[in-house]
Amino acid sequence: MSSFCHVKKTFEGNLQVVRQGRIREPIRFGASQDFKLAVCALTDVQVNSSGFIDGAKVIDLRSDTVTQPSDAMREAMASAKCGDDVYNEDPTVNELQRKCAEMFGKEAALFVPTGTMGNLISVMTHCQGRGQELICGDKSHVFLYEQGGVAHLAGINPCLVPNQPDGTINVDQLQAQVRGVDVHYPVTKLICLENTHNFCGGKVLPMAYLEKVESIARENDVKIHMDGARVLNAATALDIPVADIVKHADSVSMCFSKGLGAPVGSIMAGTEQFVNMALRIRKMLGGGMRQVAVLAAPALVALEESIPKLADDHKHARIIARGIKEKQAGIEIDMEGLHTNILVMEFMNTSITPQQFVQRLFEVTEEEKRVIGGAVSVKLLAIASNKARLVTHRDITTDDIHLVMKKILYVLDEFKANT
Ligand SMILES: Cc1ncc(COP(=O)(O)O)c(C=O)c1O
Repeated sequence: MSSFCHVKKTFEGNLQVVRQGRIREPIRFGASQDFKLAVCALTDVQVNSSGFIDGAKVIDLRSDTVTQPSDAMREAMASAKCGDDVYNEDPTVNELQRKCAEMFGKEAALFVPTGTMGNLISVMTHCQGRGQELICGDKSHVFLYEQGGVAHLAGINPCLVPNQPDGTINVDQLQAQVRGVDVHYPVTKLICLENTHNFCGGKVLPMAYLEKVESIARENDVKIHMDGARVLNAATALDIPVADIVKHADSVSMCFSKGLGAPVGSIMAGTEQFVNMALRIRKMLGGGMRQVAVLAAPALVALEESIPKLADDHKHARIIARGIKEKQAGIEIDMEGLHTNILVMEFMNTSITPQQFVQRLFEVTEEEKRVIGGAVSVKLLAIASNKARLVTHRDITTDDIHLVMKKILYVLDEFKANT
Protein backbone atom coordinates (compact mmCIF):
# COMPACT_ATOMS: atom_id res chain seq x y z
CA MET A 1 0.00 0.00 0.00
CA SER A 2 2.72 2.42 0.90
CA SER A 3 4.28 2.19 -2.54
CA PHE A 4 1.05 3.48 -4.06
CA CYS A 5 0.15 6.21 -1.67
CA HIS A 6 1.09 8.00 1.43
CA VAL A 7 -1.22 9.36 4.08
CA LYS A 8 -0.84 12.97 5.00
CA LYS A 9 -2.11 14.13 8.36
CA THR A 10 -3.92 17.44 8.00
CA PHE A 11 -4.61 17.68 11.75
CA GLU A 12 -7.84 17.93 13.66
CA GLY A 13 -8.28 14.24 13.10
CA ASN A 14 -8.25 14.21 9.31
CA LEU A 15 -5.94 12.34 7.03
CA GLN A 16 -5.58 12.76 3.31
CA VAL A 17 -4.59 9.94 1.04
CA VAL A 18 -2.15 11.22 -1.54
CA ARG A 19 -1.64 9.17 -4.68
CA GLN A 20 0.56 10.22 -7.57
CA GLY A 21 0.96 13.63 -6.03
CA ARG A 22 -2.77 14.31 -5.84
CA ILE A 23 -5.00 14.37 -2.82
CA ARG A 24 -7.51 11.59 -3.45
CA GLU A 25 -9.71 11.22 -0.47
CA PRO A 26 -9.98 12.78 2.94
CA ILE A 27 -10.41 10.17 5.64
CA ARG A 28 -11.39 10.45 9.24
CA PHE A 29 -8.49 9.50 11.49
CA GLY A 30 -9.85 6.63 13.51
CA ALA A 31 -12.12 4.85 11.07
CA SER A 32 -10.92 1.27 11.38
CA GLN A 33 -10.24 0.46 7.74
CA ASP A 34 -8.18 3.63 7.46
CA PHE A 35 -5.77 2.51 10.07
CA LYS A 36 -4.13 -0.05 7.83
CA LEU A 37 -3.84 2.58 5.19
CA ALA A 38 -2.42 5.06 7.62
CA VAL A 39 0.25 2.59 8.67
CA CYS A 40 2.13 3.15 5.46
CA ALA A 41 3.49 6.63 6.05
CA LEU A 42 2.67 9.65 8.09
CA THR A 43 5.37 11.56 6.35
CA ASP A 44 4.74 14.93 7.94
CA VAL A 45 5.10 13.78 11.53
CA GLN A 46 8.39 14.86 13.12
CA VAL A 47 10.17 13.75 16.27
CA ASN A 48 11.24 16.72 18.36
CA SER A 49 14.16 16.95 20.80
CA SER A 50 12.17 15.66 23.77
CA GLY A 51 11.21 12.54 21.86
CA PHE A 52 7.64 13.68 21.46
CA ILE A 53 6.16 13.50 18.03
CA ASP A 54 4.98 16.77 16.62
CA GLY A 55 1.80 16.44 14.67
CA ALA A 56 0.49 13.63 16.86
CA LYS A 57 -3.16 13.64 17.68
CA VAL A 58 -3.22 14.63 21.32
CA ILE A 59 -6.16 13.29 23.30
CA ASP A 60 -6.29 15.05 26.64
CA LEU A 61 -8.08 13.06 29.34
CA ARG A 62 -6.49 14.70 32.37
CA SER A 63 -9.69 16.48 33.33
CA ASP A 64 -12.99 17.76 31.98
CA THR A 65 -11.63 21.26 32.61
CA VAL A 66 -9.48 21.12 29.45
CA THR A 67 -12.33 21.62 26.97
CA GLN A 68 -12.21 24.41 24.41
CA PRO A 69 -15.15 26.82 24.06
CA SER A 70 -17.40 25.75 21.18
CA ASP A 71 -18.07 28.01 18.18
CA ALA A 72 -21.51 28.83 19.60
CA MET A 73 -19.91 29.82 22.91
CA ARG A 74 -17.41 32.09 21.18
CA GLU A 75 -20.17 33.70 19.13
CA ALA A 76 -22.27 34.19 22.27
CA MET A 77 -19.31 35.85 23.98
CA ALA A 78 -18.84 38.25 21.08
CA SER A 79 -22.47 39.31 20.94
CA ALA A 80 -23.36 39.19 24.67
CA LYS A 81 -25.50 42.02 26.00
CA CYS A 82 -23.47 43.54 28.83
CA GLY A 83 -24.11 45.71 31.87
CA ASP A 84 -22.34 46.39 35.16
CA ASP A 85 -23.07 43.30 37.24
CA VAL A 86 -22.00 44.94 40.50
CA TYR A 87 -25.01 47.27 39.91
CA ASN A 88 -27.03 44.15 39.07
CA GLU A 89 -27.41 45.51 35.52
CA ASP A 90 -25.94 42.75 33.40
CA PRO A 91 -28.91 41.24 31.55
CA THR A 92 -27.03 38.09 30.51
CA VAL A 93 -25.85 37.31 34.04
CA ASN A 94 -29.35 37.97 35.35
CA GLU A 95 -30.76 35.55 32.80
CA LEU A 96 -28.18 32.90 33.68
CA GLN A 97 -28.89 33.28 37.40
CA ARG A 98 -32.65 33.08 36.84
CA LYS A 99 -32.33 29.98 34.65
CA CYS A 100 -30.05 28.23 37.12
CA ALA A 101 -32.26 29.03 40.12
CA GLU A 102 -35.16 27.50 38.21
CA MET A 103 -33.15 24.44 37.15
CA PHE A 104 -32.06 23.81 40.76
CA GLY A 105 -35.50 24.56 42.23
CA LYS A 106 -33.98 27.23 44.47
CA GLU A 107 -35.14 30.80 45.09
CA ALA A 108 -32.04 32.50 43.70
CA ALA A 109 -28.60 31.93 42.18
CA LEU A 110 -25.32 33.82 41.92
CA PHE A 111 -22.62 33.66 39.23
CA VAL A 112 -19.09 33.35 40.63
CA PRO A 113 -15.71 33.03 38.91
CA THR A 114 -14.78 29.52 40.13
CA GLY A 115 -15.99 26.48 41.99
CA THR A 116 -13.46 27.18 44.73
CA MET A 117 -14.92 30.64 45.30
CA GLY A 118 -18.47 29.22 45.17
CA ASN A 119 -17.62 26.74 47.92
CA LEU A 120 -15.82 29.33 50.04
CA ILE A 121 -18.64 31.88 49.76
CA SER A 122 -21.18 29.17 50.62
CA VAL A 123 -19.23 28.18 53.71
CA MET A 124 -18.81 31.83 54.76
CA THR A 125 -22.51 32.48 54.23
CA HIS A 126 -23.63 29.50 56.32
CA CYS A 127 -20.96 29.91 59.00
CA GLN A 128 -20.73 33.56 59.95
CA GLY A 129 -18.87 33.27 63.23
CA ARG A 130 -15.14 32.54 63.33
CA GLY A 131 -14.35 29.22 64.97
CA GLN A 132 -17.58 27.58 63.89
CA GLU A 133 -17.30 24.14 62.37
CA LEU A 134 -18.20 22.33 59.17
CA ILE A 135 -18.20 18.57 58.72
CA CYS A 136 -16.80 17.22 55.47
CA GLY A 137 -15.26 14.08 54.01
CA ASP A 138 -11.50 13.65 54.31
CA LYS A 139 -11.29 13.28 50.52
CA SER A 140 -13.52 16.22 49.70
CA HIS A 141 -12.35 18.90 47.29
CA VAL A 142 -13.17 21.60 49.81
CA PHE A 143 -10.71 20.03 52.26
CA LEU A 144 -8.02 18.63 49.95
CA TYR A 145 -7.76 21.03 47.05
CA GLU A 146 -8.86 24.51 48.10
CA GLN A 147 -5.78 25.41 50.13
CA GLY A 148 -7.71 25.13 53.37
CA GLY A 149 -9.46 28.38 52.44
CA VAL A 150 -12.33 27.67 54.83
CA ALA A 151 -9.83 27.76 57.72
CA HIS A 152 -7.38 30.25 56.26
CA LEU A 153 -9.83 32.88 55.04
CA ALA A 154 -13.10 32.11 56.83
CA GLY A 155 -11.80 30.93 60.23
CA ILE A 156 -13.95 27.80 60.02
CA ASN A 157 -12.79 24.54 61.56
CA PRO A 158 -13.15 21.58 59.17
CA CYS A 159 -14.13 18.42 61.05
CA LEU A 160 -13.08 15.49 58.88
CA VAL A 161 -14.93 12.22 58.62
CA PRO A 162 -13.52 9.46 56.36
CA ASN A 163 -15.04 9.31 52.91
CA GLN A 164 -16.06 5.78 52.01
CA PRO A 165 -15.07 4.50 48.55
CA ASP A 166 -18.53 5.47 47.23
CA GLY A 167 -18.01 9.13 48.19
CA THR A 168 -20.40 9.01 51.14
CA ILE A 169 -19.62 9.52 54.82
CA ASN A 170 -20.84 6.87 57.25
CA VAL A 171 -24.02 8.43 58.62
CA ASP A 172 -23.44 7.20 62.19
CA GLN A 173 -20.00 8.80 62.17
CA LEU A 174 -21.50 11.94 60.70
CA GLN A 175 -24.16 12.07 63.37
CA ALA A 176 -21.52 11.52 66.07
CA GLN A 177 -19.51 14.51 64.85
CA VAL A 178 -22.34 17.02 65.28
CA ARG A 179 -21.26 18.83 68.46
CA GLY A 180 -23.38 19.18 71.53
CA VAL A 181 -23.42 22.42 73.49
CA ASP A 182 -20.21 22.58 75.49
CA VAL A 183 -17.88 25.46 76.15
CA HIS A 184 -14.97 23.35 74.88
CA TYR A 185 -16.44 22.72 71.45
CA PRO A 186 -16.75 24.70 68.27
CA VAL A 187 -20.35 25.08 67.07
CA THR A 188 -21.29 22.75 64.22
CA LYS A 189 -22.99 24.81 61.50
CA LEU A 190 -22.59 22.99 58.22
CA ILE A 191 -22.20 19.65 56.47
CA CYS A 192 -20.46 19.72 53.06
CA LEU A 193 -21.26 16.97 50.58
CA GLU A 194 -19.64 16.48 47.17
CA ASN A 195 -21.72 15.15 44.27
CA THR A 196 -20.35 13.67 42.09
CA HIS A 197 -17.37 12.88 44.26
CA ASN A 198 -14.21 13.75 42.38
CA PHE A 199 -11.49 11.95 44.37
CA CYS A 200 -13.66 8.86 44.79
CA GLY A 201 -13.92 8.54 41.00
CA GLY A 202 -16.94 10.59 39.98
CA LYS A 203 -19.30 8.73 42.29
CA VAL A 204 -22.96 9.71 42.42
CA LEU A 205 -24.18 9.99 46.01
CA PRO A 206 -27.17 7.67 46.57
CA MET A 207 -30.50 9.45 47.02
CA ALA A 208 -31.30 7.49 50.20
CA TYR A 209 -28.02 8.76 51.65
CA LEU A 210 -28.92 12.37 50.82
CA GLU A 211 -32.27 11.93 52.59
CA LYS A 212 -30.56 10.52 55.65
CA VAL A 213 -27.98 13.31 55.83
CA GLU A 214 -30.75 15.85 55.43
CA SER A 215 -32.68 14.39 58.34
CA ILE A 216 -29.54 14.49 60.54
CA ALA A 217 -28.98 18.12 59.56
CA ARG A 218 -32.58 19.15 60.22
CA GLU A 219 -32.68 17.43 63.62
CA ASN A 220 -29.54 19.27 64.65
CA ASP A 221 -30.22 22.65 63.07
CA VAL A 222 -27.22 22.31 60.77
CA LYS A 223 -27.18 23.40 57.10
CA ILE A 224 -26.00 21.38 54.10
CA HIS A 225 -23.88 22.71 51.25
CA MET A 226 -23.44 20.51 48.19
CA ASP A 227 -20.24 20.96 46.20
CA GLY A 228 -21.97 20.03 42.97
CA ALA A 229 -19.16 20.96 40.61
CA ARG A 230 -20.39 17.96 38.55
CA VAL A 231 -23.91 17.60 39.92
CA LEU A 232 -25.32 17.58 36.38
CA ASN A 233 -23.27 14.43 35.76
CA ALA A 234 -25.03 12.96 38.80
CA ALA A 235 -28.45 13.98 37.45
CA THR A 236 -27.55 12.48 34.07
CA ALA A 237 -26.39 9.20 35.61
CA LEU A 238 -29.56 8.92 37.71
CA ASP A 239 -31.71 10.25 34.87
CA ILE A 240 -33.60 12.58 37.18
CA PRO A 241 -33.96 16.39 37.31
CA VAL A 242 -31.05 18.00 39.13
CA ALA A 243 -33.58 19.76 41.40
CA ASP A 244 -34.48 16.36 42.88
CA ILE A 245 -30.86 15.95 43.99
CA VAL A 246 -30.18 19.43 45.31
CA LYS A 247 -33.46 19.72 47.21
CA HIS A 248 -31.67 17.83 49.99
CA ALA A 249 -29.14 20.66 50.36
CA ASP A 250 -29.58 24.27 51.51
CA SER A 251 -27.09 25.46 48.92
CA VAL A 252 -25.29 24.11 45.88
CA SER A 253 -22.39 25.24 43.73
CA MET A 254 -21.96 23.93 40.19
CA CYS A 255 -19.19 24.50 37.61
CA PHE A 256 -19.78 25.52 33.99
CA SER A 257 -16.10 24.97 33.22
CA LYS A 258 -16.03 21.18 33.76
CA GLY A 259 -18.25 18.71 31.91
CA LEU A 260 -20.36 21.54 30.49
CA GLY A 261 -17.32 22.86 28.61
CA ALA A 262 -17.72 26.61 29.18
CA PRO A 263 -14.44 28.50 29.58
CA VAL A 264 -15.10 30.06 32.99
CA GLY A 265 -17.53 30.27 35.84
CA SER A 266 -19.64 28.59 38.47
CA ILE A 267 -23.07 29.17 39.92
CA MET A 268 -24.23 28.93 43.49
CA ALA A 269 -27.87 28.69 44.51
CA GLY A 270 -30.05 28.71 47.62
CA THR A 271 -32.67 30.89 49.28
CA GLU A 272 -33.04 34.56 48.45
CA GLN A 273 -31.60 35.41 51.88
CA PHE A 274 -28.62 33.07 51.33
CA VAL A 275 -27.85 34.60 47.93
CA ASN A 276 -28.14 38.18 49.24
CA MET A 277 -25.52 37.44 51.88
CA ALA A 278 -23.40 35.49 49.36
CA LEU A 279 -23.43 38.56 47.11
CA ARG A 280 -21.87 40.66 49.88
CA ILE A 281 -19.20 38.03 50.55
CA ARG A 282 -18.45 37.63 46.83
CA LYS A 283 -17.75 41.38 46.68
CA MET A 284 -15.52 41.20 49.75
CA LEU A 285 -13.48 38.39 48.15
CA GLY A 286 -13.02 40.41 44.97
CA GLY A 287 -15.44 38.33 42.93
CA GLY A 288 -17.74 41.21 41.95
CA MET A 289 -17.23 41.44 38.20
CA ARG A 290 -18.48 44.11 35.84
CA GLN A 291 -19.45 43.40 32.18
CA VAL A 292 -19.36 39.73 32.93
CA ALA A 293 -21.95 38.85 30.28
CA VAL A 294 -18.99 37.76 28.16
CA LEU A 295 -18.52 34.88 30.61
CA ALA A 296 -22.18 34.24 31.42
CA ALA A 297 -23.09 33.99 27.72
CA PRO A 298 -21.00 30.84 27.05
CA ALA A 299 -22.34 29.39 30.31
CA LEU A 300 -25.87 29.84 28.94
CA VAL A 301 -24.83 28.11 25.73
CA ALA A 302 -23.27 25.31 27.79
CA LEU A 303 -26.60 24.69 29.54
CA GLU A 304 -28.26 24.24 26.14
CA GLU A 305 -25.48 22.42 24.30
CA SER A 306 -23.67 20.30 26.80
CA ILE A 307 -26.11 18.73 29.25
CA PRO A 308 -27.40 16.28 26.61
CA LYS A 309 -23.79 15.27 25.86
CA LEU A 310 -22.88 14.24 29.40
CA ALA A 311 -24.36 10.78 28.85
CA ASP A 312 -21.88 10.25 25.98
CA ASP A 313 -19.00 11.13 28.30
CA HIS A 314 -20.20 8.47 30.74
CA LYS A 315 -20.54 5.94 27.91
CA HIS A 316 -17.03 6.74 26.70
CA ALA A 317 -15.55 6.18 30.15
CA ARG A 318 -17.21 2.76 30.23
CA ILE A 319 -15.80 1.80 26.81
CA ILE A 320 -12.27 2.46 28.03
CA ALA A 321 -12.91 0.79 31.39
CA ARG A 322 -14.21 -2.38 29.72
CA GLY A 323 -11.27 -2.48 27.31
CA ILE A 324 -8.71 -2.21 30.11
CA LYS A 325 -10.50 -4.72 32.29
CA GLU A 326 -10.71 -7.29 29.49
CA LYS A 327 -6.98 -6.94 28.88
CA GLN A 328 -6.27 -8.31 32.38
CA ALA A 329 -2.98 -6.47 32.69
CA GLY A 330 -3.03 -5.95 36.45
CA ILE A 331 -5.05 -2.74 36.28
CA GLU A 332 -8.17 -2.99 38.38
CA ILE A 333 -11.30 -1.04 37.59
CA ASP A 334 -14.42 -1.05 39.71
CA MET A 335 -17.02 -1.24 36.95
CA GLU A 336 -19.92 -1.01 39.41
CA GLY A 337 -18.40 2.13 40.85
CA LEU A 338 -17.91 3.79 37.48
CA HIS A 339 -20.92 6.09 37.59
CA THR A 340 -19.94 9.04 35.42
CA ASN A 341 -16.96 10.45 33.50
CA ILE A 342 -14.10 9.96 35.99
CA LEU A 343 -12.33 6.63 35.63
CA VAL A 344 -9.87 5.60 38.32
CA MET A 345 -7.46 2.77 37.55
CA GLU A 346 -5.75 0.88 40.32
CA PHE A 347 -2.37 -0.66 39.53
CA MET A 348 -2.09 -4.04 41.23
CA ASN A 349 0.93 -5.15 39.27
CA THR A 350 4.05 -3.39 40.46
CA SER A 351 5.85 -3.90 37.16
CA ILE A 352 3.95 -0.87 35.80
CA THR A 353 3.54 2.21 37.92
CA PRO A 354 0.85 4.78 37.17
CA GLN A 355 3.62 7.31 36.51
CA GLN A 356 5.25 5.06 33.88
CA PHE A 357 1.89 4.32 32.30
CA VAL A 358 0.99 8.01 32.09
CA GLN A 359 4.41 8.94 30.67
CA ARG A 360 4.33 6.18 28.07
CA LEU A 361 0.81 7.03 26.89
CA PHE A 362 1.98 10.58 26.31
CA GLU A 363 4.96 9.54 24.19
CA VAL A 364 4.79 8.29 20.62
CA THR A 365 7.27 5.88 19.04
CA GLU A 366 7.91 5.11 15.41
CA GLU A 367 7.16 1.46 16.05
CA GLU A 368 3.77 2.20 17.56
CA LYS A 369 2.91 4.50 14.67
CA ARG A 370 3.36 1.54 12.39
CA VAL A 371 1.18 -0.72 14.53
CA ILE A 372 -1.55 1.74 15.51
CA GLY A 373 -1.50 3.50 12.21
CA GLY A 374 -0.85 7.00 13.43
CA ALA A 375 0.73 9.18 16.06
CA VAL A 376 -1.53 9.32 19.09
CA SER A 377 -0.54 10.93 22.38
CA VAL A 378 -2.88 10.38 25.32
CA LYS A 379 -2.73 12.53 28.41
CA LEU A 380 -3.99 11.37 31.77
CA LEU A 381 -3.01 11.85 35.40
CA ALA A 382 -1.26 9.72 38.02
CA ILE A 383 -3.10 10.56 41.25
CA ALA A 384 -1.40 8.24 43.72
CA SER A 385 1.47 5.74 43.80
CA ASN A 386 -0.99 3.04 42.68
CA LYS A 387 -3.68 5.02 40.87
CA ALA A 388 -4.19 6.91 37.63
CA ARG A 389 -7.27 8.78 36.52
CA LEU A 390 -8.78 9.70 33.22
CA VAL A 391 -11.75 11.96 32.61
CA THR A 392 -13.89 11.92 29.49
CA HIS A 393 -15.42 15.18 28.29
CA ARG A 394 -17.26 17.08 25.60
CA ASP A 395 -14.28 17.49 23.26
CA ILE A 396 -13.67 13.74 23.03
CA THR A 397 -15.48 11.86 20.26
CA THR A 398 -16.23 8.17 20.05
CA ASP A 399 -13.51 7.92 17.36
CA ASP A 400 -11.07 9.45 19.84
CA ILE A 401 -12.06 6.84 22.40
CA HIS A 402 -11.27 4.05 19.94
CA LEU A 403 -7.88 5.63 19.31
CA VAL A 404 -7.25 5.86 23.05
CA MET A 405 -8.07 2.17 23.39
CA LYS A 406 -5.67 1.21 20.60
CA LYS A 407 -2.95 3.19 22.25
CA ILE A 408 -3.60 1.79 25.72
CA LEU A 409 -3.68 -1.80 24.49
CA TYR A 410 -0.46 -1.25 22.54
CA VAL A 411 1.27 0.24 25.58
CA LEU A 412 0.10 -2.57 27.86
CA ASP A 413 1.44 -5.16 25.38
CA GLU A 414 4.72 -3.29 25.25
CA PHE A 415 5.03 -3.26 29.05
CA LYS A 416 4.25 -6.98 29.11
CA ALA A 417 6.87 -7.75 26.46
CA ASN A 418 9.48 -5.80 28.38
CA THR A 419 8.97 -7.52 31.72
C1 LIG B 1 -15.57 18.63 43.17
C2 LIG B 1 -14.92 19.94 42.86
N1 LIG B 1 -15.25 21.03 43.54
C3 LIG B 1 -14.72 22.23 43.30
C4 LIG B 1 -13.77 22.39 42.32
C5 LIG B 1 -13.13 23.74 42.11
O1 LIG B 1 -13.46 24.32 40.90
P1 LIG B 1 -12.53 25.49 40.28
O2 LIG B 1 -11.39 24.81 39.64
O3 LIG B 1 -13.46 26.17 39.31
O4 LIG B 1 -12.13 26.38 41.39
C6 LIG B 1 -13.37 21.28 41.58
C7 LIG B 1 -12.34 21.42 40.52
O5 LIG B 1 -11.87 20.48 39.96
C8 LIG B 1 -13.96 20.02 41.85
O6 LIG B 1 -13.61 18.92 41.17
